[in-house]
Amino acid sequence: MEGCLRVPGDKSISHRALMIAALATGQTTIHGLLEGEDVLRTAAAMEALGADIERESGGPWRVWGRGLGGLTEPGGVLDMGNSGTGARLLLGILASHPLTAVLTGDDSLRGRPMARVTAPLADMGARFIAREGCRLPLTVVGTGDAAPISYTLPVASAQVKSAVLLAGLNAPGETRVIEPAPTRDHTERMLRTFGANIHATQDAVGRMVTLQGQPELKGQTLRVPGDPSSAAFPLVAAAILPGSRLKLEGVGMNPHRTGLLDCLQEMGAGITIENRREEAGEPVADISIQAAPLHGIEVPAGRAPSMIDEYPILAVAAACAQGATVMRGLAELRVKESDRLSAVARGLTACGIEVEEGPDSLTVHGQGGRVPGGAAIEAALDHRIAMSFLILGLAAERPVTIDDAGPIETSFPGFAETMAGLGAVLTAP
Ligand code: S3P
Repeated sequence: MEGCLRVPGDKSISHRALMIAALATGQTTIHGLLEGEDVLRTAAAMEALGADIERESGGPWRVWGRGLGGLTEPGGVLDMGNSGTGARLLLGILASHPLTAVLTGDDSLRGRPMARVTAPLADMGARFIAREGCRLPLTVVGTGDAAPISYTLPVASAQVKSAVLLAGLNAPGETRVIEPAPTRDHTERMLRTFGANIHATQDAVGRMVTLQGQPELKGQTLRVPGDPSSAAFPLVAAAILPGSRLKLEGVGMNPHRTGLLDCLQEMGAGITIENRREEAGEPVADISIQAAPLHGIEVPAGRAPSMIDEYPILAVAAACAQGATVMRGLAELRVKESDRLSAVARGLTACGIEVEEGPDSLTVHGQGGRVPGGAAIEAALDHRIAMSFLILGLAAERPVTIDDAGPIETSFPGFAETMAGLGAVLTAP
């Protein structure tokens, strides 16, 4: 593989840009928004809640916000598609609006737990009616009189942190979230960019984020960085395919997202990071990578929040590396778009790679170089499982097929075309 590319806009930041712009006053212009299924669902939901959203043909997106507390009750069900981030962050916003809304999603999203956000949001005054296990479809009855809370996250989750902070926007006084392990801080950075008073302090117990409620959020002009979680796929492909050399421009380098780069460097990949800069309050850089023989590593559990979405593709790199790669602290992988821990273990085994799956760990025994392959993989409505196994197929002796490439559209529109442009051809059966 060879060439230079720009990966699609960051999914996490794109959701937040649309949501916070809809809560601001005036116009927000968003360059580089991810135009993937997940984000388009969020755009549609914010429109259904009263924001005006427009896309200039081939150009930036524009949002005319309703002002804090100004969203209006939607006339229909809000279908968040495949997106846990879209659903959970939106529940936070709706919790502190005096309206009733019903959220649903696809088969994958309807199976994912929502109690992690409804519990703190109920403490702030919202009410929820949900299916068994607190799954979607779910009705939220928000309040115009939300109470600020101080909440300690029981799991390291940026989605839960963000839901509480977004609800806290329309509550008087200080909303605090204490996270035992720091997670991606895009919500904090973007709220600050829009004019909110929000700060974080770190002590022995963890990181405490404090938001002053009822700020005046003002429309902004933003550029969304390239998504490091999408960059992960061409990066690993280049690392494992001999002779490859790639440059990825404008990739987000938020320190809570760069765990995969640390792992690949420790495994022996040739990575150079240049032209570090800041865009919309987020660090960005260009990344160059060169193929090199990789070796197995021990990935510390503490690194999980900074690469939580990258374990499936790291496992692919590990399958092509020499020796064992041990990954720990993976319990959260079981409640992503699919149970990613078992999907990866099952898929790698089917491709002839020895793995050990624990309750929250995975060990991959790589043999160095090409893998046997020759398996049909069920993607289980999970874009990252689909892309990971397609990349594994590039390094396999026999073809690897996936049953459904559709979910890739949620985060990486044009994935196959991008890969083909770099010399890695994926074929439709
Ligand atoms: C996200 C946070 C992570 C990540 C997800 C996006 C976000 O989820 O897996 O893809 O945008 O806040 P958790 O917060 O549940 O770990």
